[in-house]
Amino acid sequence: MELNKAEEKILAGEYGEGMRLAMEVLVAVGRAMNATGLIDITSAHISGVNYYNIGDAGLELISDISKTARFSVKTTINPCGPSISSDADILFNKHDVEKQKEIYEAFRRMGAVGGCNCVPYEGTNAAGPGEHVSWAESNAVVFGNSVLGVYTNRESGLSALAAAVVGKTPLYGLHVEENRRPKAFVRLESALKGESEYGALGHYIGKKFKETVGIIGIRRATRLELKTLSASIGTYGSLGMFKLAEIPEKGAEVVDISKEELKESLSSISSDVKPDAVFIGCPFTTAEEITDILNSLNGKRPSIPVYIFTYSEAYEDISRKFNIKSLRENNVHLIRDTCPSLSKVPEIIGAKAVLTDSSKASFYLKASSGVRVAVMDRESVISKALSA
Ligand code: F3S
Repeated sequence: MELNKAEEKILAGEYGEGMRLAMEVLVAVGRAMNATGLIDITSAHISGVNYYNIGDAGLELISDISKTARFSVKTTINPCGPSISSDADILFNKHDVEKQKEIYEAFRRMGAVGGCNCVPYEGTNAAGPGEHVSWAESNAVVFGNSVLGVYTNRESGLSALAAAVVGKTPLYGLHVEENRRPKAFVRLESALKGESEYGALGHYIGKKFKETVGIIGIRRATRLELKTLSASIGTYGSLGMFKLAEIPEKGAEVVDISKEELKESLSSISSDVKPDAVFIGCPFTTAEEITDILNSLNGKRPSIPVYIFTYSEAYEDISRKFNIKSLRENNVHLIRDTCPSLSKVPEIIGAKAVLTDSSKASFYLKASSGVRVAVMDRESVISKALSA
């Protein structure tokens, strides 16, 4: 792995200890992955922010790093565990909230912008075609590479943090054009519709493929369906990119997927349950999505609580158009900057079964909170919430 003179100087500590340590991380990753060198990035997105995941050891590490490191590109961070908002609707343990605030403040000291958010591509830290970035949240990585045309590997929290400090990332994997060309294709027997089918396809692909895969048979998909597909691929495997295609490349492997196989995938994600609550927003919802949900509810009171998870900017946007307090009184709770799936929310609200539109939430809610989960399209989730 080759470094230029300026990079050598960073490694020698001429630009301070924070830069030196970050460069050491990048060089170690680059050497392990056979990178040819480093490439400039325009944006970074860091995971490993949730206190429930990283604990006191993680807090200590981030606080130490924040003493010397500063971000040199636009950088955002992933959702919190316990909510740090004073208007949080869910009663999180005070001790955990304080710890989460310390983690958040450490990232802010280094230069992170915005709140805590797993959809940086929706505006807070958007990037466009051809931009090299260093993103660590898997749904953002898959959506970014596949839908937006950005170039990023699936980074860890630490490698994305190091990249944010140096403003560069090792050049290998999905930063290299050749690795973005599908070597295998899946061909759909019939068109897909709705988030649950896209989530099932993501489950199937995530489990089966490790390198960029082509998908034949998706002619028209909504942004939400592609977001769901990306999140599901990122959850059920290590793949970082798919490519929508019309025909397979010459000599590539082609795997046909039947409706039956997709049904099997869906039934392994979704159980038949009587839900105690509805969770929407894994990945986080945008202001536009929330507006659509609220319009579909049309002022009616759901018979089970509906929790909608979003990021600060979207929350503020919505609070200018809707009365958040009245929504809450009407059993609709808007929660900002908090991950629905890895924040013990079911335990806190006493839910044993959850209804969601997210195959990613299904995986993490079961693993982290032990609840039973049903997955449906967003439209069906809303009608079910009104009739349950
Ligand atoms: Fe985001 Fe948490 Fe889901 S980070 S994608 S809401 S698991």
